[in-house]
Amino acid sequence: MEKKKAAFYNVMFLIIGAGILIFLLMAPPESTVKLPRDKDHIAFYDMPRKEAEKHCSKCHGKEAGNPLPEKHPPKFRCLFCHKLTKAS
Ligand code: HEC
Ligand code: HEC
Repeated sequence: MEKKKAAFYNVMFLIIGAGILIFLLMAPPESTVKLPRDKDHIAFYDMPRKEAEKHCSKCHGKEAGNPLPEKHPPKFRCLFCHKLTKAS
């Protein structure tokens, strides 16, 4: 009886592990558009990310000129997804 229980927990462990893995793999791919390196964004390259993110909505908020796409994913912490463009 005890053995059966252990087997059950092992299977549960595997299922939960697989679930977490799938969840992580569903994160947006690295191909997400990067932060442009232009005059509008260059200032944010010299700022801690958390500080920079406070300014995004000035131009990318609903009322601003460059709103996010309709189907934009949850948007807390912009710069976790939109990586900086490497200097060339
Ligand atoms: C001064 C206004 C302004 C601010 C502030 C600003 N943006 Fe932008 N952003 C723009 C404009 C204008 C565009 C569209 C033109 C372009 O592609 O460069 C744009 C485009 C983008 C794009 C798309 C680039 C592409 O290749 O399509 C991303 C991603 C982006 N911004 C992220 C951010 C993030 C993250 C922040 C905050 C750290 C931010 N922006 C702050 C004006 C701004
Ligand atoms: C969970 C990841 C994630 C976060 C957080 C996030 N974005 Fe995005 N963003 C995306 C994805 C994915 C797209 C779809 C465009 C693509 O990559 O093809 C996108 C698209 C955009 C675009 C349009 C780019 C274009 O050319 O179509 C802008 C502008 C943008 N995001 C700005 C922001 C700003 C500003 C924030 C913070 C308020 C933010 N994003 C937070 C993942 C994210």
